[in-house]
Amino acid sequence: MNEIFASAPGKFVILGEHAVVYGKPAIALAMNRRFYLSVRRDDEFKINGDAVDIRANPHLRYIASRNDMVPVSIHMDSKIPTGSGLGSSAALSVAFSAAMRALNSRSISKEEIAKEAFEAEYFSQGGGSPMDTSASANGYGIALNVHGNEEDRLWDISKNGRSWKISRIDVPSMTFVIGYTGVRAATGPLVEKVRKYKDGNRFASDIIDEIGQITLEGLAAIESNDVVKLGELMTEDHKLLSILGVSSNELNRLVSASVPYSYGAKLTGAGGGGSMVVLTDRPDKVCEAIRSRGGMPFIVKTGVDGVKVSNKNEID
Ligand code: MEV
Repeated sequence: MNEIFASAPGKFVILGEHAVVYGKPAIALAMNRRFYLSVRRDDEFKINGDAVDIRANPHLRYIASRNDMVPVSIHMDSKIPTGSGLGSSAALSVAFSAAMRALNSRSISKEEIAKEAFEAEYFSQGGGSPMDTSASANGYGIALNVHGNEEDRLWDISKNGRSWKISRIDVPSMTFVIGYTGVRAATGPLVEKVRKYKDGNRFASDIIDEIGQITLEGLAAIESNDVVKLGELMTEDHKLLSILGVSSNELNRLVSASVPYSYGAKLTGAGGGGSMVVLTDRPDKVCEAIRSRGGMPFIVKTGVDGVKVSNKNEID
């Protein structure tokens, strides 16, 4: 029986989360934690051997519906904690889209997969941007809605009157540490919280504009390898995200503990729990500081490839 194997990386956001939902610039890097899965035809939907109602998982349901709801047995193994702000649901959508497209002899271009996975995320979250799914599909580094060279443009995505231009960027050779709070936070409600704040408040729109501005400055800092400037901007971004109401006590504790040993630190992803990211040249000190405040640190490896798909079990 034909079995298809796929994997896709998680991501972290250097700058621009939440504001990117409104078409502002953002920068994200794929990282060395992946979602692995395989699919093969079966007489009912199964996950890791158990029969399931596929409609209970909106990501899987959306992608299955694009493949005529033909039942498959899915095996999953994720190295990205769920609800950690590190793109686990995007990586699931990307890997499942790739595997199902391959199984049904549809195109497995990274662009097609990124677009289908974004639709699945949007359907599931009720909103959001194509940042996480594009970072996971493409891998390496991406920027959204920045002015750059035409040859760096990967693809454009539009939805409900908003549009995002997605470009590749060189992955900075800088050291980042992730600190996971251990608190799971779903993205949809946090995106909705910011939307409500923005709809009722001109001040929130100004904060979102400022995050966009900071992100453009951050991209210039990355291009000139200016860690000091980038770190300052990251810490500033954390303050702006806190004003938007998406930080938490746990995140603030890990950020404060890391700042003395780093260029800068901020929450990464949707917030509300989840993870933070630190730019540092003292990663061991930062890991110790995060651990001492109850967080789970790891030194992240970047420059990793995006979605991979194969009919052999050789996917890494
Ligand atoms: C989540 O990783 C990033 C957000 O900006 C939501 C999105 O872009 O869809 C909070």
